[in-house]
Amino acid sequence: STVYILNGPNLNLLGKRQPHIYGHETLQDVENACRALASELGHDIRFHQSNREYEIIDWIHEARDEGHGIVINPAAFTHTSVAILDALNAFEGPVIEVHISNVHKRESFRHHSYVSLRADGVIAGLGIEGYELAVRRVASLLRLQQK
Ligand code: DQA
Repeated sequence: STVYILNGPNLNLLGKRQPHIYGHETLQDVENACRALASELGHDIRFHQSNREYEIIDWIHEARDEGHGIVINPAAFTHTSVAILDALNAFEGPVIEVHISNVHKRESFRHHSYVSLRADGVIAGLGIEGYELAVRRVASLLRLQQK
């Protein structure tokens, strides 16, 4: 199956943007690590980033049609987007939410996540390693579903 790895606004600047919070590695580094791991686990990935809410929604719909798994770092849309929550609620496969930083240690507006109302699991504060752990978890949930 295919694991969709979806990234929200400003994550194209990863590595350059507030490195004291988000680290020095780039989104390309994240993609490379996820690709290597996914192929080890026997999965394909579709890795996307957008600053536009509708594109993220369209990718969730695409994942729905094809029935696979989703790893999503919705970035600031985490805290604002009922539309992304609704799209995920229309998706039946496993969903893991990832945040590079520990959102609970930060401003209170980052403490609430719409996406967590749907996510099967949430990873925050593990840096970009969180993505690889999320891919592993989606792979095990896909395996469990097949049984
Ligand atoms: C983030 C946390 C969000 O609060 C923030 O808006 C981001 C990135 C993270 O990965 O830590 O853009 O999702």
